[in-house]
Amino acid sequence: MAKQSTSWLTFHKRWPLLLVALLSTSTVIVLLIRAASDSCNTNSVTTTTTITTTPHYSYENTRIQVTSQVETPSNPLRFMKSKLVLLVSHELSLSGGPLLLMELAFLLRGVGAEVVWLTIQKPTDSDEVIYSLEHRMLDRGVKVFPAKGQEAIDTALKADLVVLNTAVAGKWLDSVVKENVPRILPKVLWWIHEMRGHYFKLEYVKHLPYVAGAMIDSHTTAEYWKNRTRERLGIKMPETYVVHLGNSKELMEIAENNVAKRVLREHVRESLGVRNEDLLFAVINSVSRGKGQDLFLRSFYQSLQLIKGRKLQVPSIHAVIVGSDMNAQTKFETELRNFVVENKIQDQVHFINKTLTVAPYLASIDVLVQNSQARGECFGRITIEAMAFQLPVLGTAAGGTTEIVVNGTTGLLHNVGKEGVKPLANNIVKLATNVERRLTMGKRGYERVKERFLEHHMSERIASVLKEVLKKAENHAFS
Ligand SMILES: *[C@@H]1O[C@H](CO)[C@@H](O)[C@H](O)[C@H]1NC(C)=O
Ligand SMILES: *[C@@H]1O[C@H](CO)[C@@H](O)[C@H](O)[C@H]1NC(C)=O
Ligand SMILES: *[C@@H]1O[C@H](CO)[C@@H](O)[C@H](O)[C@H]1NC(C)=O
Repeated sequence: MAKQSTSWLTFHKRWPLLLVALLSTSTVIVLLIRAASDSCNTNSVTTTTTITTTPHYSYENTRIQVTSQVETPSNPLRFMKSKLVLLVSHELSLSGGPLLLMELAFLLRGVGAEVVWLTIQKPTDSDEVIYSLEHRMLDRGVKVFPAKGQEAIDTALKADLVVLNTAVAGKWLDSVVKENVPRILPKVLWWIHEMRGHYFKLEYVKHLPYVAGAMIDSHTTAEYWKNRTRERLGIKMPETYVVHLGNSKELMEIAENNVAKRVLREHVRESLGVRNEDLLFAVINSVSRGKGQDLFLRSFYQSLQLIKGRKLQVPSIHAVIVGSDMNAQTKFETELRNFVVENKIQDQVHFINKTLTVAPYLASIDVLVQNSQARGECFGRITIEAMAFQLPVLGTAAGGTTEIVVNGTTGLLHNVGKEGVKPLANNIVKLATNVERRLTMGKRGYERVKERFLEHHMSERIASVLKEVLKKAENHAFS
């Protein structure tokens, strides 16, 4: 997760204007989108837009404000009012971990908590993404302090609650807090979003047994942490709380706006050169072997052959890979493109650069493929985002996906690894040939999101964890 790095809004500059016009003014929406150069070709969405919080008002520069959560008496986090919370992030980027912590910062600000943010690793050069994210926080009243120095230590000592985000953030305790570590630990909540092997290092997590609690995004990941810390490191996890994530109100707003969805769909499809009736199967994830785009393309190719071999009458099917970055994963990216060329499926496969704005793609595709390999996703937020758009999910039977997708009801699961290639190909054909089933699964997915994967569900879950952690910290302070 730490390596997911920067993604950029990549989209044609017209859509945000259309979208603003369409969405109700009473609530929400989106960042700010500043269109840069404009060069559209039929094979991919082209314009690179950057996120910034600098207000530019003009045709080219559309700023749309994210409204903060309206405080209602029923807000489950309201007991956090006036509490001082220190959030410690290993980095500040557009990847999942830091963005989640920022969401928590805003939820806490929404109920009047005092929130201080520290970023441990910062590039030495000024970075536009960091600048923009920091300003977004400052705008919402979050205080941003340097990670090192007396101010950081004093805040940690004074805070009612300290949230360490990701395993790597543990390094901050020894390098900055030093001899005061034992005083801080009883009020630390450690939020963990990763499960790759290299995070299980004593230098990161040796204080883990002594914190007030750990919060983890899925049961599978929590189990895995319990096993690994015990077996590899000989340490015991603290009280561990599983908190499934929820969709933001902004995302739900678009997902439930049929007019906006239709406009986005037409627009993206036009720029990809696909027709309204064509079926789009998409993986939306940073391109890397762990996310399984290579195996997905193999399945996709097999499904084309199955359709041809059985002479099935289906609309033309396309594979969309959102999350490319030719600069970074060159070898893997090249491998994917070679596969496409060798098998002559260029017309059916579309690569799209990394983007933070997934809504236009979710509005345009017909099926989300979540093909993460090995232990799968820790949670996999794109899965609940896709379900909000009434999309069925074809997912690997691993990690958080198994806690989100109900096999046979909201999607179909296949195994990880090579043995999952054929089942995924069959599932692609199943959903391509059976319109009714596809749409029903999408609806069931949406219902599941409404039942348990909304922002308020996440707030409620987080609130009950924070309550317990605060109680423990207070007991500790008075004992
Ligand atoms: C995608 O990203 C690559 C590398 O960052 C860049 O060279 C290319 O122009 C981008 N493509 C589009 C369509 O924006
Ligand atoms: C954890 O270990 C137990 C027994 O040692 C095993 O049954 C379980 O599958 C393991 N869970 C994970 C997620 O590795
Ligand atoms: C998912 O359900 C189908 C039947 O609908 C079954 O054939 C398949 O084995 C299940 N897959 C997993 C991974 O549970």
